[in-house]
Formats: sequence, structure tokens, C-alpha cells
Amino acid sequence: MSFRNSNNNSSLHNESIISQFTKQAIPFTQLSEHSNQYGLELMVELVKPHKGDTVLDVACGPGIVACQLAKFVSHVTGIDITPAMIEQAKQTQKEKKFNNLTWKIGDILTLPFEDSSFSLVITRYSFHHLLDPLKVLEEMIRVCKRGGRIVIIDVTPESDKVDEYNRVEKLRDPSHVQAFTFKKLSKMMEEAGLIDLETKCQNLEMELDKLLEASFPPHGNKEKIQHLFKKDAKKDNLGMKSFLTDNNDKIYFYFPISMLLGYKK
Ligand SMILES: C[S@@+](CC[C@H](N)C(=O)[O-])C[C@H]1O[C@@H](n2cnc3c(N)ncnc32)[C@H](O)[C@@H]1O
Repeated sequence: MSFRNSNNNSSLHNESIISQFTKQAIPFTQLSEHSNQYGLELMVELVKPHKGDTVLDVACGPGIVACQLAKFVSHVTGIDITPAMIEQAKQTQKEKKFNNLTWKIGDILTLPFEDSSFSLVITRYSFHHLLDPLKVLEEMIRVCKRGGRIVIIDVTPESDKVDEYNRVEKLRDPSHVQAFTFKKLSKMMEEAGLIDLETKCQNLEMELDKLLEASFPPHGNKEKIQHLFKKDAKKDNLGMKSFLTDNNDKIYFYFPISMLLGYKK
């Protein structure tokens, strides 16, 4: 099974990422579901961060994961390609008065760190935005120490729903590339050499219009997405268990999220 994406126009794709996430930086940070406490606690349970850890948060966005881990470890570095996201991360750090975080602007395709620099390398909600996720995973492994942990957290639709899921996500956010199923993601990690995989899952509830307000779909797509979700409410072709409230005025759904941890040999 190949995890390489043949479309490697990475500079064009990076422009699309930066454009999307510059617009999304503030609303993404403020959307409470992205700081969902249960999800962050589940991550901590899986990762077991401790004082001896030095952490890298890959595609850290506004630093939600980095700041959660900073409570437990000696130091966290966050890297992201979107300067507006790093601005949000710095702001959050300031508000929380943490002094053990460093931020870097850069492309995660080539991580600007020495081999074996970190004991824990983590990324959340980034893999579905990547043209070459395997290369990024290899980079994450390279900068991790032997015996260290690599963690990927992302939405993992069921295999019979993944195509529909990708279609609707591309309508919402053109920088979406492809979501992986849980099976594909764990296989990628094993084939990259990681061992003793451990996992946790979460169904993250979301209100569609709230998500759309924090996103910037191209003109006309918002209505298409709402229509698709409404149509989907009884069928679940999208794999997100969407449902309408009793008076039919709100659409809710669940993001099927997987957290996978593997050890570097
Ligand atoms: C959905 S956000 C997730 C942010 C954060 N990890 C979180 O979970 O809150 C995706 C982030 O990936 C970043 N990103 C996407 N491709 C990247 C790349 N090639 N290099 C660095 N950052 C990237 C975007 O700028 C954006 O901040």
C-alpha cells in the first residue's frame, strides 16, 4: 500500500493552507469544540506526558495541544506554516502565563530540527491537509529519540464513508486533501517502523452552522453542505451520524476522531 500522494504541487497547496488558516486562525481558536476538555484529557491519558519530556507539536495551529501538554512536560515546541496561527498560539501562551513553549513558523515537510531532538512528537488534525503524509511521518520519527512516542490525532471515517466524507470536507475547506481510515493510518505508522501501537477514540459533537461560521467555504458551498448534511441525517453516508434538532432548525454531527500512539524502536 502506498501512502505517497502523486500530486506534489506543494507550493500551490501551501498557499491554499496559509490562505485558509489565516482566515480561520481566530474563529478556529475560539471554537470551543477544538478545546474540548474530554478530548484533551483523553489525549493526556494516551500520551502520559511527564516532566522528562521534550515535545514537538507538528502543525500546532493556535497551540491548543501544545499548551495542554506544557502543563506536564519540561518544554514544548510548536511549528506551523501559518503565521496567523502562531500569533494565536503566542497569545494563548501569554494568557496562560506558560514559559516553557517555543514557536516556529515553517513547513513540516522538512522539520528544521536535529535528529532525535524530542521524546514526544505529536500532531492533531493535520494529516488530512497533507500532500505527502508519509514524508511528514518520517520526519516526525527522525526528530524523535529512540524509545520516544509519535502521536497522530485525526478524523478517521469508516472505509465505506471516506469518499463522501472527503467530498463534503473539500466543499467546506479546499485545503482538505484526504482523511484516512483508522486502518490505513495505523498501517502507515506500522510500515514506517513504529511499534506497540496504542489508541483512543472520540466522537466529537459539533453543530454544523457553528463550524461553518468558523470556516470559509468558497461562495455557494455553505448551502450545498447544509443540504448534504440534511439529506444525510437518516442515512449516514458521510459517516458523521448527523441529526436535526426536534424543530429541524439545527444540524449536529460527530467527527469520528482517532488518537494513535506508536514508539520509535
Ligand atoms: C486544522 S488545523 C489544526 C491545528 C492544531 N494542530 C490543532 O489541533 O488545534 C491544521 C493546521 O495545520 C497547519 N499546516 C497544514 N499544512 C502544513 C504544513 N505543510 N506545514 C506546517 N503547518 C501546516 C495549518 O497551518 C493549520 O494551522
